[in-house]
Amino acid sequence: MKKTFYVTTPIYYANNLPHLGSLYTTIVADCLRRYKQQRGFETFFLTGTDEHGINIQRIAEQTGKTPIEYTDYIVSQFKEMFGQFGLDTAHGGYDIFMRTSEAFHYKGVAELWKLVSAAKTPKGNSPIYKGFYEGWFCPSCAAYKTEDEYSRPEVEGDPPLCLEHLKPLDRVSEESYFFRLSDYDEALLALYEARPDFIQPEARRNEVRSFVASGLQDLSVSRQKSSVSWAIPVPEDPSQSIYVWFDALSNYITAIGFGDDDPSRVANFNKFWPALHLVGKDILRFHAVYWPAFLMAGGLELPQKVFAHGMWLDPNGRRMSKTLGNTIDLAVLHRHFSNDAVRYFCLRDMVFGQDGKFGYENLIDRTNSDLADGLGNLSSRTLTMINRFSGGKVGEGTLPESKYLGAKRAGIDADALPVASMLEHARDQFIQSFDDFAFSKGLETAWAVIAKVDKMLTDAKPWKLAKEDEQKPIVDAVLYRAAESIRWLCVMLYPIMPWATREIWGQLGLTDDLRSFDPAELTWGDLKVGTQLGEVKPVFPKLDKVKLMTEIANETGSAGVHATEADAVAGSELANETQGNAPVVGATEADAVPEPQSETNANVTSFIEIGDFAKVDMRVGEVLTAERIPKSDKLLRFTIDIGEAQPRQVLAGIAEYYAPESMVGKKVIVVANLKARKLRGFESQGMVVAASVGENGRPVVATFTEDVPNGARLK
Ligand code: MSP
Repeated sequence: MKKTFYVTTPIYYANNLPHLGSLYTTIVADCLRRYKQQRGFETFFLTGTDEHGINIQRIAEQTGKTPIEYTDYIVSQFKEMFGQFGLDTAHGGYDIFMRTSEAFHYKGVAELWKLVSAAKTPKGNSPIYKGFYEGWFCPSCAAYKTEDEYSRPEVEGDPPLCLEHLKPLDRVSEESYFFRLSDYDEALLALYEARPDFIQPEARRNEVRSFVASGLQDLSVSRQKSSVSWAIPVPEDPSQSIYVWFDALSNYITAIGFGDDDPSRVANFNKFWPALHLVGKDILRFHAVYWPAFLMAGGLELPQKVFAHGMWLDPNGRRMSKTLGNTIDLAVLHRHFSNDAVRYFCLRDMVFGQDGKFGYENLIDRTNSDLADGLGNLSSRTLTMINRFSGGKVGEGTLPESKYLGAKRAGIDADALPVASMLEHARDQFIQSFDDFAFSKGLETAWAVIAKVDKMLTDAKPWKLAKEDEQKPIVDAVLYRAAESIRWLCVMLYPIMPWATREIWGQLGLTDDLRSFDPAELTWGDLKVGTQLGEVKPVFPKLDKVKLMTEIANETGSAGVHATEADAVAGSELANETQGNAPVVGATEADAVPEPQSETNANVTSFIEIGDFAKVDMRVGEVLTAERIPKSDKLLRFTIDIGEAQPRQVLAGIAEYYAPESMVGKKVIVVANLKARKLRGFESQGMVVAASVGENGRPVVATFTEDVPNGARLK
């Protein structure tokens, strides 16, 4: 029987449009499943939406829709987004888009509820009992909140605020069914002990273990139907609705056939369960404590593993949120970046399990350095040389003994063994990294191979050797080694970049399905001599950073930010935000990229009198002309109308981030009484004010939200 592999993403709340978090976990799951397919597993990949609960019920009411009409709409947006990023079934992505509004899910959840109700806890009690719940509930978290999880209201009598969402909590004071979680602490601790890798990474496992060890409280697992009607009813007590997490977590088993009447679906459940759950660290507790306890109570097998990944933060290290306006707009992402580039970035830039920083600029830099200049360049230079020097066919890879000396003189190993063993070693490390979920490390290993093969070509200089006929075997051998290395890289990198690797594979003249190649079984020399190359085209065109950043800035309203993601932010982060974005005068004066402005050095360190401030004469100016300065990548030369008889000439160090034409017509702020100075032979009669953003101090030129006359003074 074939080995099986079942991977799940969380099912995303259908209260909001898709965001980077939903895209990210689904990309990781997709990579893992493609990798496991290559390794010979029969795979199943689930993603979907979590559709019940008071939050969705309320939003639907507000929008004048029924809950299902509302979630149908959100689901259509999710499916469209997943289709665009090539993660849907049609592109070889998920096998099921699971919806908790499906009839089979209702049935499965009821089955699980019944199983749990009829069982006994490890301490001999009934796992579910009826009681009275009195406390606070956050609709956005879909969770009951303990005292340390909310802030006291400022006004007596107001509800407290959820610390996670800064939104008011609901007071719940009603009859409810409880799950006797307190009886499962020892069983859970024994589970974590017996299966040390049940929760990963290790640091998260320790957190969960301490949480459980500190004692568990019973969990309210239902609400009165009169309070929450958009939910699955409690079997045999329709006056109660099942709590959304009991419902949502069960999707992982109902999706593949648990509780179904159809024997083929039940067989599917038996075949694929248990799953590997990929979740964000914010929802680990639900998956690593509640879910195993529910399954234990139902007498069902526990998940194979719960892996908690970190959060994508903005380039300043702040949490992404709609309130801060620093989220990534998926439409912009899709429009300007290839799916492979996004996937590569997601796996390479975030150490899986830790937080990472996501910005359009970082993405452009990675794409250019690693994909265009790295893999893309290696493959195009190798294949172009095969076209030019070997007639477009892969030449003989083995050197005749008569050429050993010549090869040695050209600085080339007589046989391929050193390259072959370098690749084998890297391949083994790559596999180990993937098996350990260390994707970033695995990719680093692959890129070390790219660098070595690239260096081999640079050292051997086939273009020089090719000038002499008797060197032809050496040229062929070197190019064979490079081409064979690229073949290996395609197999290894296929799960991360399915489209680009297929493209390179085709250019190498290969046609078999990359999914059927197990990286563990790659054998050096399998690339057949005489293989006719396909058409050689660039796979990763280099991105024009200035142009792209300007376009993105125009599309999102501010460089790199757009509001699509839900959720507010904790108070402390909000405070950082205000400081981190304080406008910075002096960012554009010199012929240099402005100094990085960290959040701490943006803090006010000393105070000035109002009279000091009044010394700075800042005026509204309109950019009349803008052009680059010859031989300077950083400076733009403007003429700016600040309401004087003649426009001013002002230089600003923003050319790396703003195309000159994008500035013409803009209203900017000019420091008018700054002493004139000469830069690159041009006099600058003032300074344009800009914020300095992020690690690289990207300038964002300050402007106005409504029309203001030229020359108006800023006070
Ligand atoms: N519906 C629940 C999950 C139920 S699973 C049985 C839920 N949904 S969610 O839509 O709010 O969140 C889904 C996932 O997105 C979570 O794993 C969360 O960690 C992840 N992310 C949300 N923002 C994120 C980032 N900025 N970065 C990475 N992932 C983040 O919770």
